[in-house]
Amino acid sequence: MRNIGVIGAGHVGLVTAACLAKLGHRVTCADNDTEKIENLKKLVMPFYEPGLEELVKEAVSHQLLSFISSLAKLAEESEIIFIAVGTPPTSEGRADLSFVEQVTVELANSLSAMKGRKENAPKNIYRLIVEKSTVPVLTGEWVKRTLELLSPTGLEFDVAANPEFLREGCAIKDFMEPDRIVVGVESERARKIFEEIYSGIKGPILFTDIKSAELIKHASNCFLALKISYANALAQVCERVGADIEKVLEGMGLDKRIGLSFLRAGVGYGGSCLPKDVAAFISLCEEIGYPFALLREVEKINQGQRRLVVKKVRELLWNLKGKQIAIWGLAFKPDTDDVRDSPAIEIINSLTREGAVIKAHDPMAVENMKKVIPNISYCSDPYEAARDAHLVVLLTDWNIYRQLDFEKIKQSMKIPRLIDGRNFLDPEKLRGYGFIYRGIGRK
Ligand code: UDX
Repeated sequence: MRNIGVIGAGHVGLVTAACLAKLGHRVTCADNDTEKIENLKKLVMPFYEPGLEELVKEAVSHQLLSFISSLAKLAEESEIIFIAVGTPPTSEGRADLSFVEQVTVELANSLSAMKGRKENAPKNIYRLIVEKSTVPVLTGEWVKRTLELLSPTGLEFDVAANPEFLREGCAIKDFMEPDRIVVGVESERARKIFEEIYSGIKGPILFTDIKSAELIKHASNCFLALKISYANALAQVCERVGADIEKVLEGMGLDKRIGLSFLRAGVGYGGSCLPKDVAAFISLCEEIGYPFALLREVEKINQGQRRLVVKKVRELLWNLKGKQIAIWGLAFKPDTDDVRDSPAIEIINSLTREGAVIKAHDPMAVENMKKVIPNISYCSDPYEAARDAHLVVLLTDWNIYRQLDFEKIKQSMKIPRLIDGRNFLDPEKLRGYGFIYRGIGRK
């Protein structure tokens, strides 16, 4: 058992904290949002993630997980400190590392204060500072330099990069059963600690230098985005020649070298990671003198998919003014309440700008979307959203949208028309009911 501190109770931080506690370590999780910490102390989760609440409750009841607002206390008690604070994009798309810097400075100050305060403080204390947030390559150097400048004499420390690859919606499984764990370290001592921390996890650990570990995270997310944009670009080709993107992707993906996963065409990727990481990596490459033009195109194709949906709406409805449109799905993907950079935001805003009247449904993300777009109607079930609508637009592939009574929906709509932004429904089945169906890259 190790004493571990996790700074940041966001998606990555909180899942990391709960999973490390599950692995038997004693974990303290801190966040400067005191309301969030107070809620967590009452076992109220700040966001939805399947299985997380149960895991947190279990760890807290075993006294393996606690929440505090004081970073100083965390620094004092934890030998290993994971930094999992946000790295939001700046207006130019770079990763804003000011929270990482702030935390590093606070850690150094707290450790200095601790040494100064405690008469019997051990002569040498050791801390392993781990970058867990997605950070651009060379951040580790800055963290190290900052600690060297500000930390007290007698502090021995290592900096490490241990990027997290978890996906929202299956974060716990991704953490506990990863394809790989990537760890960038510079000392044998740090390496041994990681081997111990993760000894309960099945999955290979790849040890690298810090810069390579940092790069692996950005490179992986950009590659996933590239795969999606490739599928979406092909969908555009399919539309122009009358081919079926679903068949094309299946035929490609069955080649093991290509693989079927992350090769789905649709309204494009969203969320808090892929768009931000692609932008940050483009900006970093620009700075280091290698403009990564391929990734600019990936972004462009992704934006184009959102516009494509609006274009399809116009093609079906002609004028949008006064037309009632049902939106099914607001989250950036299913099984989450997250709407950050969700394609739905831009699409709904474009449609309302042209005068359409929107009635939206999502099984989980309505409350979050209300904060972003307050002035549309929200419905508690998809039937209500579709009633009297001129068109339904499906934007998130939630399973429930496959299980609906389409006969009933057809009867209740002004004209039964549906745009399937995820190629999620069966076109033949819908046409059988009498719907006018439009997918992405298929007839
Ligand atoms: C992503 C990475 O997958 C994860 O490894 C990293 O740690 C964080 O970023 P996440 O943002 O949770 O995870 O979502 P993910 O499941 O990757 O989906 C991202 C977006 O791509 C979603 O909007 C999804 O709908 C879209 N997507 C995914 C596609 O459009 N097509 C696909 O084939 C796959």
